[in-house]
Amino acid sequence: MAIREIIILPDKQLRLISKPVETVNSEVRKLADDMFETMYDAPGIGLAAIQIAVPLRLITMDLAKKDDEEGGKQPRVFINPEIISASEELSVYEEGCLSIPEYYEEVERPATVRIRYLDLDGKTVEEDASGLFATCIQHEIDHLNGVLFVDYLSKLKRDRVMKKFTKIAKRVG
Ligand code: NI
Repeated sequence: MAIREIIILPDKQLRLISKPVETVNSEVRKLADDMFETMYDAPGIGLAAIQIAVPLRLITMDLAKKDDEEGGKQPRVFINPEIISASEELSVYEEGCLSIPEYYEEVERPATVRIRYLDLDGKTVEEDASGLFATCIQHEIDHLNGVLFVDYLSKLKRDRVMKKFTKIAKRVG
């Protein structure tokens, strides 16, 4: 396992549309391992492969810290995930993103979604997601389509955050 570098706004790779995983093989499982190590190290609750510059439809997630008082790890992998239905009811969460560090804003999304994905054994799974899980999986699936949570903000707020991160990137060189 290895910690990989997380790419940061305004890196253009964040706008790529990731390609489906064709076969769930040892290479994919190794990539998922690296993503978990990177995500726990950050620390974060969700990571899309494109955030470590790999344009594949692969997501890692662990919501245990927020949902589970026991504090045990609950690592989850979603391969080629899709939203197959979404509730009309919306909910608001304050979102953040490892690729937009230390920036948080409220985003409104469907409160529950039904998702379909492949697990690490290559098996198709369908599942309903609600609460933080619903928000997180929608946020991560957006990454696979080159969409960031700041895209849901007002133009004023989005322009402000883009400008801030462009400035920081220039300074770091
Ligand atoms: Ni994100």
